[in-house]
Amino acid sequence: MNERDSEAVAALLRDKGYSIVSDESYADIILLNTCSVREQAEQKAIGKAGYITARKRRNPNLVVGIMGCMAQNKGDALVDKLPDLDLIVGTQKFHRVPDHLDHVIASLNGLGPKPDTIVDIEEEKDSQNTIRSHQADQNQVSAFVSIMQGCNMKCSYCIVPKTRGSERARPMNEIVDEIKELADKGTKEVTLLGQIVNQYAVREFPFVDKKSPFVQLLEKVNAIDGIERIRFTSPHPVGFKDDLIECYDRLPKLCEYLHFPMQSGSNQILKAMRRPYSIEKFCEIIQKLRAIKPDIYISTDIIVGFPGETEADFEATRSVFESLQFDMAYIFKYSVRPDTSAEPLGDPISKELKESRNQTLLNILSASSLARNQSLIGTNQEVLLESPAKRGEGVFVGRTRGYRKVIVPANDRLMGELVTVKITEATTSTLTGELIIAD
Ligand code: 5AD
Ligand code: SF4
Repeated sequence: MNERDSEAVAALLRDKGYSIVSDESYADIILLNTCSVREQAEQKAIGKAGYITARKRRNPNLVVGIMGCMAQNKGDALVDKLPDLDLIVGTQKFHRVPDHLDHVIASLNGLGPKPDTIVDIEEEKDSQNTIRSHQADQNQVSAFVSIMQGCNMKCSYCIVPKTRGSERARPMNEIVDEIKELADKGTKEVTLLGQIVNQYAVREFPFVDKKSPFVQLLEKVNAIDGIERIRFTSPHPVGFKDDLIECYDRLPKLCEYLHFPMQSGSNQILKAMRRPYSIEKFCEIIQKLRAIKPDIYISTDIIVGFPGETEADFEATRSVFESLQFDMAYIFKYSVRPDTSAEPLGDPISKELKESRNQTLLNILSASSLARNQSLIGTNQEVLLESPAKRGEGVFVGRTRGYRKVIVPANDRLMGELVTVKITEATTSTLTGELIIAD
């Protein structure tokens, strides 16, 4: 989602005549987009911002801004830490960046008073509709599309409802128009983004024939000419009903891949996390999906070391994690976040224990991911060639429908195309293959 927000800001700036440079050392303006989900991400961003603002001593015309979740979370407090910042822009104000830069630059040119750091972190009605621009001169093979903003859940560990605000959906027709425009410019794959993407517009649009607004949107995207692949992230087990499960059978463009956050395998911990589902319910959804699409690829998010996670709780997570055989997973060590309902519980689980639980799950993941990749050796896979590989000329990186990364030598003119690749080698994270030329 942050990548998408950054891209939308870059597109707005390009429209105003700015150019985007490939390396920050060439830039006159540096905007950092930031994450607050874990403390470490914030520390990293503050370190980076400190390093960049120090360059202003040598180059007073350098403009530096912080955008996104940390800007929203810390606001004015960031100015105390980083007084040389020019701009602090919250999550509902990305579209205001060009105007703010106009003011900063006018003052650098002596055309206006030197402003204090501009801090713009107010809420703004309908700000969800402002993340829609894509860079006009770039043919995106695969594009992100934000369909909503914010989250109304109250997971006890999570800062997102604070930084992103309450759930707000974009109108369905505007999303469809955006995707049609992308398809006209050559985009073949879209990933629909939302904090709880399957909750899309549940308050704004009615269910039709027992189909949720999200399922209705998937149907509309599936009907767009030129779009060949649809993905979405991230769904929540609550609201993951049969109408959505059936889409994997009905909608040919919906890829056999799902990122499905589990967070914990212990019902006690899920309850303490305020995740309103049981682990049995979570497994049942996966079983239904696998019954419909036996070869579906599933990834997840897990937090280890949530306050109160006992050996038995972790063993429950370990055992479910192993039995579900995830193809990919993001495993996080719990980080206390300000103003969350878990904050008063502190951080009683030691760093070492979190690290060892993390490592236990990573080992299981490596084995399941490698086994899945090895099972593909000798098979033909549909691959969308997305970008040149770093390895060298004439080698490309693409993805299978199951989101497995594939490296394949091919001719430049196939960039952005769907091709058939015979898989010859596999590691935990990457497949290598050779192009099958159609007769
Ligand atoms: N500590 C660790 N991980 C977290 N996540 C969210 N909040 C925290 C936190 N306080 C993880 C969840 C979520 C992912 C995006 O980040 O697993 O799904
Ligand atoms: Fe955070 Fe929970 Fe909302 Fe996801 S569903 S963004 S984890 S509060």
